[in-house]
Amino acid sequence: MFFSRTSRSSEHGDKIESASPNAVHTRRHSKRFWLLLLAATILIIGLGLGLGLGLGLRNTGDDDDSNDSDDSNSSNTLPSGNTTTIGVNGTFWQPQAGATWQIVLQQPIHTFTPLVSIFDIDLFENNASTISHIHSLGSKVICYFSAGSYESFRPDTKDFVSADYGNELKGWPGEKWLDTRSENVRAIMKKRLNLASEIGCDGVDPDNVDGFVNDSGFPLTNTTALDFLHFLADEAHRLKLAIGLKNAGDLVGQTTGFLQWVVNEQCLQFKECGLYRPFIEAGKPVLHIEYVSEKGNNDVNTRTREEICGQPAEEGFSTLMKKASVDEWTETC
Ligand SMILES: *[C@@H]1O[C@H](CO)[C@@H](O)[C@H](O)[C@H]1NC(C)=O
Ligand SMILES: *[C@@H]1O[C@H](CO)[C@@H](O)[C@H](O)[C@H]1NC(C)=O
Ligand SMILES: *[C@@H]1O[C@H](CO)[C@@H](O)[C@H](O)[C@H]1NC(C)=O
Ligand SMILES: *[C@@H]1O[C@H](CO)[C@@H](O)[C@H](O)[C@H]1NC(C)=O
Ligand SMILES: *[C@@H]1O[C@H](CO)[C@@H](O)[C@H](O)[C@H]1NC(C)=O
Ligand SMILES: *[C@@H]1O[C@H](CO)[C@@H](O)[C@H](O)[C@H]1NC(C)=O
Ligand SMILES: *[C@@H]1O[C@H](CO)[C@@H](O)[C@H](O)[C@H]1NC(C)=O
Repeated sequence: MFFSRTSRSSEHGDKIESASPNAVHTRRHSKRFWLLLLAATILIIGLGLGLGLGLGLRNTGDDDDSNDSDDSNSSNTLPSGNTTTIGVNGTFWQPQAGATWQIVLQQPIHTFTPLVSIFDIDLFENNASTISHIHSLGSKVICYFSAGSYESFRPDTKDFVSADYGNELKGWPGEKWLDTRSENVRAIMKKRLNLASEIGCDGVDPDNVDGFVNDSGFPLTNTTALDFLHFLADEAHRLKLAIGLKNAGDLVGQTTGFLQWVVNEQCLQFKECGLYRPFIEAGKPVLHIEYVSEKGNNDVNTRTREEICGQPAEEGFSTLMKKASVDEWTETC
C-alpha cells in the first residue's frame, strides 16, 4: 500500500536549510597538486566513458545497434536525467531535477504514453520484458517495493518471521510495520534489491521507511531509519541501482547527499513541500504526487489544477496528480 503514509508533523515549516553543495574553497594548491588533479580527471573521465558505455549497452538491451536513444527521439532529450554517477560503491544513474515521470503500482504497467523519462513501477508486478520495452523507448525504470512494511500478498512474504512485524498500518488492514533493524528483514530486502537488479531496474523506490514517526510497535528512531537507508543505499549502489527517499521529510537533510531523488506524497496537502526543496537545490528530482478525488476521475477541475500545479511545479518539482489507487490514470502540470 502506498497512499497516505507520510510523516507529517506541522512543525517543519522553517527547518529548511540550503544544501550549499558548491561551497567555495580557497585553498592554495601546489603545481604538483594540479598535475595530479589533471591526471586524476583524465582517469575519471576515461573510467566514466567506459562505465557509461557499459551501462548504456546493458540498458538498451535488444537494440544495441540502433542510434543513441537520446538522438532517436527528441522528447527524450528533455530533463531525462540520464547522467551516470561514479560513487565510491558503484556506478549508478542520477536523474536530474525536473525529470518527467509516471508511477503505477499494484498492477503491471501497460501504457507508456505520454512518454516520460522515468517510470516508477511495482517490482513484483512487472517483468524483465516490460522493463526492456521501457528502455527501448529511451526511459528509465524505478522499481517500487515496500521496505518497511509487511504485506501478506508478496511472493516472498513467507520469508518474514513473526518477530519481524509489529503494529498494523492505520487504515491498511493486514499491512504491518517492520522492524527495520532486523537482520532477517534486511536479508529479505537484499533479495528484493537483487531481484530489481536481475530484471533490469535502473533504480528502486523503497516505501515505508518512516516507521519511526508512527506507532510501529518497535523502538524505531530517526537514527535507526537513517541506518536502514544507508544499508539499502549501499546494497543498491553495489548493484548499480539508484535509490531514492520516500516521504520521511525529517530525513531530507541527512539523505540528500547519498540518495538520488525523493518521492513525496501530498506535501502540498500537508503544507510541507519546503521540506523537500534541498533535493532540487542539489539538482535531484522531487517526484511529487498529489492525490485527487477517486470520484473526480478524469475531471480535475481548474481550481484543483491551479493549486497543485502552482508553487511545487514552479520550484522544479516533478508533480503528478494521481488517484489513490496509483493506477495508470494521471494528470501532469
Ligand atoms: C543516456 O543513456 C544512454 C543509454 O542509456 C547513453 O548512451 C547516453 O550516453 C546517456 N546520455 C547521457 C547524457 O548520459
Ligand atoms: C540512425 O541514424 C541514421 C542517420 O540519422 C539513420 O539513417 C538510421 O536509419 C538510424 N538507424 C536507426 C536504427 O534508427
Ligand atoms: C517520440 O516517441 C513517442 C512515443 O513513441 C512519439 O509519440 C513521439 O512522436 C516521438 N517524438 C519524436 C520527436 O519523434
Ligand atoms: C560504501 O559502502 C560502505 C560499506 O557498506 C559504507 O560504509 C560507505 O558509507 C559507502 N560509501 C558511500 C559514499 O556510500
Ligand atoms: C511480462 O509482463 C507483460 C505485461 O504484464 C505480459 O504481457 C508478458 O506476457 C510478460 N512476459 C513474460 C515473459 O512473462
Ligand atoms: C504515520 O504517522 C503520521 C504522523 O503521526 C500519521 O499522520 C499517519 O497517518 C501515520 N501513518 C500510518 C499508516 O499510520
Ligand atoms: C533525531 O531526533 C531527535 C529528537 O527529535 C533530534 O534531537 C535529533 O537531532 C534527530 N537526529 C537526526 C540525525 O535527525
